This record gives sequence, structure tokens and C-alpha cells, in this order.
Amino acid sequence: QKIMAIAIDGPAASGKGTLARRLAAKYGLHHLDTGLTYRAVAKALLDKGLPLDDEAVAEREARTLDLSRLDRELLSTHEVGEAASRVAVMPGVRRALVEKQRAFAAMPPGAILDGRDIGTVVCPDAPVKLYVTASAAVRAERRWKEVVEQGGRAEYAQILADVERRDARDMGRADSPLRPADDAHLLDTSEMDIETAFQAACAYIDAAF
Ligand code: C5P
Repeated sequence: QKIMAIAIDGPAASGKGTLARRLAAKYGLHHLDTGLTYRAVAKALLDKGLPLDDEAVAEREARTLDLSRLDRELLSTHEVGEAASRVAVMPGVRRALVEKQRAFAAMPPGAILDGRDIGTVVCPDAPVKLYVTASAAVRAERRWKEVVEQGGRAEYAQILADVERRDARDMGRADSPLRPADDAHLLDTSEMDIETAFQAACAYIDAAF
């Protein structure tokens, strides 16, 4: 039986996570938010008071990571996200995590992985690849609304600056920079609601399988 793998990439706050969860539910596939794997390594280093830029130390944390114990709640803070994007520039960390992500993708009946390098590096043979994006201004506004709706305080200009800094780091790094795979379908959600994006993604998937 053929393993169904779907790769979803895109920048922070593009809506790829929501899309991936909905698609996994509809098609009965496993789902891995690979950002959580980088976040978990970063959080382990922060908790232990270890440096974020020592490759050997960080790679050791990555090798011992258990994908079945990723706790979204604990990993969702802004601080951990920032630290994750620093940890993610180190090839040793990426090698260790990509190995685990590939094993996850091979589980029957198949899986949806979302991240930055799924279509280009982790699952280059995935029959369906989506690249979900939106302008930095729109993504910052979504982040800002999320924070405010959860009763928090946030400065839009600050969030926009964070989004832009994270984009620059993710797109500018030497190892596995964020970019659409040549055969990825582009979904720009700047002026598209989640339902429309979901329907478009379903059409690509139904055409491929
Ligand atoms: O998507 P999320 O914000 O949780 O990702 C945190 C960071 O992890 C990203 O900014 C990126 O640097 C890194 N990451 C990555 N490759 C992936 C997923 C996330 O480098 N496949």
C-alpha cells in the first residue's frame, strides 16, 4: 500500500498549521507540526540553562527527542519560537530532527507534515506539496488578533518586526532555507479565508491521489 505524504511549508503565521490539522482530520492522516520539534530542542536547552548556539550540545538534545511527547501548550511561547529559529540554523540539529520527521512521514496510512523544508528536504518525493504564504502585514495582524483575543497585550509594530526578523532568519540561513519546492502549489492566504484555502488544498490532494 502506498504511503500518502503531504508536505506543507510556509512562513510563521501563514495559516499552514490550521490548514494541516484540518486536512489531516479530513483525510485520516497523521499530522506532525515540525516547528514543534525545533521548539522542543530550544526549550530543553533553555530549561537546562545550556547555550543555544553550541551545535554538539543542541544535536544531542535533538537526538534524544521523543516525537510522541511534544506538548504544544508548553512550546507555543514567543521566547521558545525565537530560540527555535536560532537552533534551527545548525546542520547537526536539522540532520537529527529530519531523520525523525522522515520516520514519522513513513507511518501508514500516511502523514501531513508542516514546516519550512518539508517539500524541499524532508519529503522531496511527496505527491502533494503546498506552500502557504501571506504578506508579513497580514500575518502580523493575525498574530496580534490571537494575542488580544486571548486577553493579552500586544503591540502591532512589535509583532510585525518579529515576523520580519523570523522570515529573514528562516529564508536567509544556509542549511534548508525556507522556499517553495519547484513543484509546490502556492496558496497566498493574504486575501483568502481559511475555508477557501482548505477547499483549494483539497482540490490539489483529490487530483493527486
Ligand atoms: O513554525 P514554528 O514557528 O513553530 O517554527 C519555529 C522555528 O523552527 C521556525 O522559525 C524555523 O526556524 C524552525 N523550523 C525549521 N524547519 C521546520 C520547521 C520549523 O527550521 N521544518
